[in-house]
Amino acid sequence: MAGGEEIDSEILKTLLKGRIGVSITYLASAGSTNTVAWELAEKGAPHGTVVVADCQTKGRGRLGREWISPAGHNIYMSVILRPSMRLRDATLLTIVAAVAVAGALRDDTGVHLSIKWPNDLMVSDKKIGGILCEVKSVNGEMAFGIIGIGVNVNSAVSALPPQIRGTATSLRGETKKEHSRTDLIAAILNRLDNWIHIMDASGRGPLLNEWRRLSSTLKMPVKVVVGTETVSGFAEDIDDEGMLLLRMPSGIVRRISSGDVSMLR
Ligand code: BTN
Repeated sequence: MAGGEEIDSEILKTLLKGRIGVSITYLASAGSTNTVAWELAEKGAPHGTVVVADCQTKGRGRLGREWISPAGHNIYMSVILRPSMRLRDATLLTIVAAVAVAGALRDDTGVHLSIKWPNDLMVSDKKIGGILCEVKSVNGEMAFGIIGIGVNVNSAVSALPPQIRGTATSLRGETKKEHSRTDLIAAILNRLDNWIHIMDASGRGPLLNEWRRLSSTLKMPVKVVVGTETVSGFAEDIDDEGMLLLRMPSGIVRRISSGDVSMLR
C-alpha cells in the first residue's frame, strides 16, 4: 500500500446488506479487476461476486483506453451480475452502475457527482470516475455481465497523471479530506443491490428517471464522437434501452449506442 487507509475486506463484508458482495475477492494488486471477475464468472462464480483491488497494473477504460490505477488511494472493483436481461439491454448495466455510484457518493461525501452519458462520473466538467461494463453472450442471451467501477478517492489532484490532471478530479480534491474506501465501497454495493431490486420489482422506469435526475448530458447541445464520425445535435433523452437520443439539426432523432459526449457551449 502506498499511503492512505487500507481497504478492509472483513469490515466490508459486515457493511453489506444484500446479494451484491455475496463473495468478495480482495487483491493487493490485479492486472484488471474486470479480467479477474470475468475469469471467476467463467468458472461459475455467482451473481453478486465482487473483486476489489488496491491497485491495477493493466487497468482498462472504455474504447481500449488505459485506466491508471496506483496503489493506496482509489477504488477499483468489478461486480459479476447474472441478470435476467436481454442482450440488447446491456447498456442498462452501465446505467444502473452509474446511478448507484453517483447516488452513493453524493450521499456519503456531499460531492455533487453527475453522470455524463454513457459511463463517465463527473464533478462539474472534471472526471472523477468511470464504469466499464463487459458482457458475455451465449446463443444471443446474456450469460453474465461484469460491471467495472473506478473512482478517484484519495489521490491528490496534483498526483494525478499529467495527461489527465487538467480534466480529472478526486473526492479528496473536491472535499479537501480523505475518505474511507471501505465505507464508500460498501455504500456503492448496497446502492447497486437496492437498484437491482427496484428494477426487478418495478421495471426500468424508476432507474431511468433517477439517471435523468443525475445526468449532466441531457437537454443541451452536445457533440458526440462515434468511432471516426463526429455528430452534433441536441441531447433529448435516453430511451428505455439506455441509448442516447440525439436530435440532429435536420430534426431527425438519431439513436446512439456508444460514443464520447462533450457539451457545446
Ligand atoms: C472509463 O471511464 O473509461 C471506464 C473506467 C473503468 C475503470 C475500472 S477500474 C475497475 C475495473 N477494472 C478495469 O480494468 N477497469 C474498471
